[in-house]
Amino acid sequence: MINKSVGEALNAQTNAEMYSAYRYLSMSASLSDKGLSGMANWMRKQAEEEMEHAMKIYDYVIESGGRVSLFDIEATTDQWDSALAVFEHVYAHEQKVTGMIHGLVDLASGEKDHATQNFLQWFVKEQVEEEDHSREILDKARLIGNNGPGLFLLDRDLGQRGI
Ligand code: FEO
Repeated sequence: MINKSVGEALNAQTNAEMYSAYRYLSMSASLSDKGLSGMANWMRKQAEEEMEHAMKIYDYVIESGGRVSLFDIEATTDQWDSALAVFEHVYAHEQKVTGMIHGLVDLASGEKDHATQNFLQWFVKEQVEEEDHSREILDKARLIGNNGPGLFLLDRDLGQRGI
């Protein structure tokens, strides 16, 4: 059975993943509002993926005999100035989440909780991908700046995201 401190920290991460989903969905709405439907699609899929992360942790806590507590989700803004501002934020946010996951691994290791350390390895790997994908898009968004045809092409590319 999962110990109290690890269970509480995983609960907090469930909340953080739901917050990520909420934040990314607000970005999707803002991008839709700007007529960037492809980027809005990418961001909506990203929000859905964050909810999958949250539910993966939720299921693990229950399977491990812990208790899930769902807290308030922090409010988020719907004011994003540009596509570039959105992707700057996504990359910075993913770096922050990586730090949270590594903190959880350290905690589980300190508690000698081998099952949770093993469970978290999926998230460690996932964060490498999350950072890589968001940095790649950010690099392109920086190159494009306010160039209309460039934005059009990036929007079209990101509209291809299926999952
Ligand atoms: Fe759940 Fe994008 O990290």
